[in-house]
Amino acid sequence: MSRINIRDLSVEYGTKNKSFKAVDRVNLDIKEGEFVSLLGASGCGKSTLISTIDGLRRPSGGTVFIDGEPISGTGKDRSIVFQNYSLFPWMTVKKNVEFGLRQLRPELSKKERSDIALEFVEKVGLSEFKNKYPLKLSGGQQQRVAIARALAVNTPILLMDEPFGALDTKTRASLQDLLLSLWRSEEKKKTVIFVTHDVDEAIFLSDRIVIMQPNPGRIYKEVSVPFSRPRIRENITDTEEYKIFRNEIINAFYEAEKEVAYHDTEKKISAGNSPVVRSFNSGTVSAVAGGR
Ligand SMILES: Nc1ncnc2c1ncn2[C@@H]1O[C@H](COP(=O)(O)OP(=O)(O)OP(=O)(O)O)[C@@H](O)[C@H]1O
Ligand SMILES: [Mg+2]
Repeated sequence: MSRINIRDLSVEYGTKNKSFKAVDRVNLDIKEGEFVSLLGASGCGKSTLISTIDGLRRPSGGTVFIDGEPISGTGKDRSIVFQNYSLFPWMTVKKNVEFGLRQLRPELSKKERSDIALEFVEKVGLSEFKNKYPLKLSGGQQQRVAIARALAVNTPILLMDEPFGALDTKTRASLQDLLLSLWRSEEKKKTVIFVTHDVDEAIFLSDRIVIMQPNPGRIYKEVSVPFSRPRIRENITDTEEYKIFRNEIINAFYEAEKEVAYHDTEKKISAGNSPVVRSFNSGTVSAVAGGR
């Protein structure tokens, strides 16, 4: 099982005297086997939220439930791919994948661990690099290793924090395809939470898109993706339905930002300051990478 229910989750940084609320009273329900993307501008709390769901960060309020049970830290039911590749540079590709298995599946024998690691290194197309060190690999290849490591442990929940953010469009598209085909090929699909600020990526991958807004990080809107699976990129991106839906998501993204700007202005006026509306940073929404 791998149902996730998030109730009134808040996360603060800082000390008791000076704290900053990065996530504010988030409520979210994710079904078993569902693929959900968190989409939002930089700084809106996506990484904070996903690392709290992983149990790496403690909430200041509220609870994350997995199958009805509150989490109290990291668990063997969850694996995470971080925003940077986070591989161990002193371990080979295969050893990096084995490391995850040693952590989360200590019951495996050395031989089983080695076999599973090789199987997943092959699945991400890196067999010939299995004995190479990460620094000898390209960014896309390193990210494949990180994905292999997260998938090899075979947890029912997979958390991915902008795993393809640093990649070029073509590599990104091929890793999106790889991720979807691995996800779909499983008899019991994993529950996936995937962080991105790429609209096309969110649409292509997800069953549902959760749009967040900053200051403090909150959920602005949840939208179900209307395209059936399997999705073939070219077949859906050229349709009128896709263009309309994509615009809806982009508009929601900017509305989320606009509302914050309005909020900031109101606060400044009431504090006696001159109203300065924050200008939109078009760099925060990427509508070209991925999905092409
Ligand atoms: N360790 C920390 N200490 C203090 N503040 C932090 C810390 N980590 C994040 N923050 C702040 O919390 C807010 C949310 O950060 P977070 O990294 O969750 O955003 P994000 O949505 O993942 O952004 P990005 O898209 O740039 O990765 C930001 O304002 C950030 O400055
Ligand atoms: Mg982040």
